Amino acid sequence: MTPETSIIPRHVGIIMDGNGRWAKKRGQPRTSGHREGLETAKRIVAHASDVGISFLSLYAFSTENWRRAEEEVNFLMGLIKTHLRKQYDFYKERGIRVTHSGDLERIPQGVRDEILLAEEDTRSFDGMTVNILVNYGGRDEIVRAASRYLADGGDPHSLDEDALASNLDHPEIPDLDLMIRTGGEIRLSNFLIWQAAYAELFFSDVFWPDWDVDHFDEALKYFEQRQRRFGGIPG
Ligand code: IPE
Ligand code: IPE
Ligand code: MG
Repeated sequence: MTPETSIIPRHVGIIMDGNGRWAKKRGQPRTSGHREGLETAKRIVAHASDVGISFLSLYAFSTENWRRAEEEVNFLMGLIKTHLRKQYDFYKERGIRVTHSGDLERIPQGVRDEILLAEEDTRSFDGMTVNILVNYGGRDEIVRAASRYLADGGDPHSLDEDALASNLDHPEIPDLDLMIRTGGEIRLSNFLIWQAAYAELFFSDVFWPDWDVDHFDEALKYFEQRQRRFGGIPG
């Protein structure tokens, strides 16, 4: 497929929001919104890979989402686990590498195992990287990076941006170019705080289960029209 835009962001991050409200609007339980949201995620992953995105970060479960009802939390964990187990062929076909960002420790063992297995099984693939954020918080990642630096014997007085960045969960993944949030809220909700420092921001009112490849293309179009200055003066 030919990309519709000429300037393609290298790293796109999506806050996949609005599943619960999508379900509520239909008189269905929130969980059915999550099930439908997973279908959207697959659609968008395939499309992003087709148009040549190199890194796609998907916010699946935040460090704050544990505050939700146990039933919803369990459902989301189950969904992540079965998806990773069943989608190996989907990733293999497209050469998609799966990575995870977030604190693995609090994630239930069964889900953690599937995450580690998916990372292991897709490590050698050379297509797009899908970075799945589970038990992820931007602040938490920064704190864990600083701890890692110190635990490795780093000098507290020499801690600088490069040293911190190289201790993030995936130092090989570049800064975020385009951040998309669906579902109508205009906030970051602790998403890739460090990496989004100079990201372009695209907000969509559409609930995630209703999101389609055309919406994604619209976000790419928006990105293409931005003039990125990174604090400098355009020449
Ligand atoms: C986003 O949808 C998915 C997760 C947070 C896991 P929500 O569940 O937050 O849906 P809304 O925002 O309540 O509609
Ligand atoms: C952000 O959405 C987290 C994910 C999409 C996984 P939330 O629905 O949790 O964020 P808030 O509560 O509206 O800020
Ligand atoms: Mg939400």
